[in-house]
Amino acid sequence: MKLLVTGGCGFIGTNFVYLMSKRHPDWTIINLDKLTYAGNRLNMLPLEKKPEYHFVHGDICDPEIVSSTIEEFGVDAVVNFAAESHVDRSINDPSPFITTNIQGAQNMMECARRAGIERFVHVSTDEVYGTLEMDDPAFTEETPLAPNSPYSASKASADFFARAYFETYNFPVCITRCSNNYGPYQFPEKLIPLMFIKANAGEKLPVYGDGQNVRDWIYVDDHCTGVELTLLRGTPGKAYNFGGASELSNIDLVRRLLKQMGKDESLITYVKDRPGHDRRYAMNFELAEKELGFTPEYSFEEGLSKTLEWYKNNSQWLEKVRSGAYRDFMDKWYGERQ
Ligand code: NAD
Ligand code: DAU
Repeated sequence: MKLLVTGGCGFIGTNFVYLMSKRHPDWTIINLDKLTYAGNRLNMLPLEKKPEYHFVHGDICDPEIVSSTIEEFGVDAVVNFAAESHVDRSINDPSPFITTNIQGAQNMMECARRAGIERFVHVSTDEVYGTLEMDDPAFTEETPLAPNSPYSASKASADFFARAYFETYNFPVCITRCSNNYGPYQFPEKLIPLMFIKANAGEKLPVYGDGQNVRDWIYVDDHCTGVELTLLRGTPGKAYNFGGASELSNIDLVRRLLKQMGKDESLITYVKDRPGHDRRYAMNFELAEKELGFTPEYSFEEGLSKTLEWYKNNSQWLEKVRSGAYRDFMDKWYGERQ
């Protein structure tokens, strides 16, 4: 298998590339990444020496780089992780979300279609379904898309393009929709690494609104397994939900994190809510269980301990990312910059 992964220098992409190169040492993995603020090529240093791994610095919106990469490496299959991924950034400025998440995703499908690629996984999110009340049943793949943020609107648009590419061109695309991931290499703008940094520094932990918003948390390796199963066994044209069966309110999560770190709850501070803040996400992933054999392996307790342990042991990674020093380091190391 010659697998093109986009966004492999981001959080989930990094974990996915490592897991796949461990599970499938015979696969060639080509990682195409623009190296935005969220992309860190240094994550991949141990793999860069291996002949089965290749890095291409490029934008998924650029038809030339995508087509030439597919041609040069004789790509068989594509997993598209590349995206602008942070909801708060999308509220500040939706434009890059439209460019990368919609135009970029469409460009990836178009280049892959022209090249006759037979397997394409488009990585989407549970946020495309909108929000749930506390007693609503979980989202299924039949739940109508009702995005509430510029981020989720851009992801939902790409999902519609994927659907259209299947219906119009019989393009072999599957969509994955997963809940909130956590684990190693997550950029510290997201809840868990942000709270870890702040708690460590003895700073206030900013909880939005009343802290009662609920997310379903999944350890990143479980999501990666879901993407792998979709790649290997998914039915073209279908979307698959993935979740961790771990619904928690934000305040409950932050309290557990503080407890595990041995820090005091007095660090918690309630701040102004995120506009359009979805109240609750919950995933019904019975289809993935039945058709793909998916089941999340990690409980939240296990996943959180592994994650906190990783951040504790990789404080330099976190510090470099937080301060932006990884950019200079990356320049020095590779002599290039986006
Ligand atoms: P991330 O922000 O950590 O990483 C995104 C990666 O994409 C970075 O390496 C970045 O450099 C790259 N990238 C961005 N724009 C690009 C472009 N135009 N061309 C090429 N590369 C580009 O994101 P993540 O949290 O790892 O999320 C990966 C995917 O999974 C996204 O599609 C996201 O919507 C989806 N997702 C994320 C979660 C989550 O909890 N993080 C949950 C469900 C789905
Ligand atoms: O559900 C899947 C989605 O999960 C992915 O599609 C997104 O790419 C990913 O960023 C994530 O989105 P969220 O908005 O749910 O994640 P975030 O970590 O930003 O926030 C999680 C919850 O915590 C959310 O309810 C907002 C809240 N929050 C977040 C931050 C950063 C706080 O209360 N305080 C904070 O400082």
